[in-house]
Amino acid sequence: MDFTKLASKYQTPLYIYDFDYIRAQFNSIKEAFRARKSLICYALKANSNLSVLKHLAALGAGCDCVSVGEIKRALFAGVAKYKIIFSGVGKDDGEIEFALKKDILMLNIESEAELKRVEKIAENLKITARISVRVNPNVDAKTHPYISTGLKKNKFGVDIDTAKKLYIYCKNSPFLEPVGIHCHIGSQILDIAPYRDATSVTADLLKSLKALDIDIKFFDVGGGLGICYKDEITIEPYDFAQAVLANLAGTDVTIVCELGRFLVGNGGYLLTKVLYEKYNGAKRFIIVDAAMNDLIRPSLYDAYHEIEAVNKSGGGILADVVGPVCESGDFLGKDVMLPSLENGDLLVVKSAGAYGFSMSSNYNSRERAAEVAVENGKDRLIRKRESFEDLINLERECLEGANEENR
Ligand code: LLP
Repeated sequence: MDFTKLASKYQTPLYIYDFDYIRAQFNSIKEAFRARKSLICYALKANSNLSVLKHLAALGAGCDCVSVGEIKRALFAGVAKYKIIFSGVGKDDGEIEFALKKDILMLNIESEAELKRVEKIAENLKITARISVRVNPNVDAKTHPYISTGLKKNKFGVDIDTAKKLYIYCKNSPFLEPVGIHCHIGSQILDIAPYRDATSVTADLLKSLKALDIDIKFFDVGGGLGICYKDEITIEPYDFAQAVLANLAGTDVTIVCELGRFLVGNGGYLLTKVLYEKYNGAKRFIIVDAAMNDLIRPSLYDAYHEIEAVNKSGGGILADVVGPVCESGDFLGKDVMLPSLENGDLLVVKSAGAYGFSMSSNYNSRERAAEVAVENGKDRLIRKRESFEDLINLERECLEGANEENR
């Protein structure tokens, strides 16, 4: 990756995605499930750039969406409607109606109250809603508490007994068709055991539903496969698939997985330019042009992202890499070993393809970064850098209106 060339062509801060890497990741997970019918529904919350979606759709991916905005993005990028799933604990009536009218694959139901809303809306539309129930298996994914979702104390899904009750309710409703079973226990998972445990619980439910003549076609194991940010030992796609499939012998379900980070995380880079270097006493700071508004993971989760100087090597001194935002929590890395740097030098923040740009904001009225794809050695812009016009667009007219009234 020629970071220097990309920085001079597109300026910084800049998100860069390696589309060849994303393709290889997609193919590796598809290959791991080769023995079964499978549908990889990319969790687009990880990175919802339209070109990323189009790239994955062309490989055969579906999408796991958690808002109407995400469904619209997926459809706009060319994802087939019958490969789109709608998850989330708080779908409002408008969102449910939109999803039903678009005839997507299924809605993941997260509570009894939601199931009743979906039934009512489907009845009004005179259609039958395809649904799956999100089971909370009460399994500890052993990950950061903010991204752990499969425990009773988390807001997600329903327990096994409630799930069974909901499926039986569906069976007796002309407006609900249960086609899937769903479970997602968390994100950045590095231990295979929680997957095994969670799938075992849901597979038992699947079998007991079969006995009740409720025919489930899609077994959704969620996402969450962890990636290597520093020195983590990750789960191999093959082992992940085996852990899932071990519980499904004798069944004929299509495996769905909703991976986000695994597909795009290590294919992304945040390129940033050094503005200043300074010492406060003995403490060294490298101040760069990217900030917490561009990549919030370090500030929010204390997440580690490897940071390297581009085309500079040699001895280093530990430094905190910080942005221009007016908060002490605005850092991209702490105690990073970096060589001597000066204005204009480049740093690259790695593993930034997932939950990087998609969690970025305009805090401090900073325009969000541009995004670039690199594929087969060629680069192309996939999102323009925001301008000041973009920042004030939705306010400008309101301001002018207010001024007129005051005249
Ligand atoms: N399915 C559901 C229902 C989810 O809630 C999530 C992620 C995924 C799939 C995809 O998980 P993945 O394969 O990407 O781990 N902002 C956090 C991660 C939040 C994950 C939220 N849900 C971070 O930066 O680490």
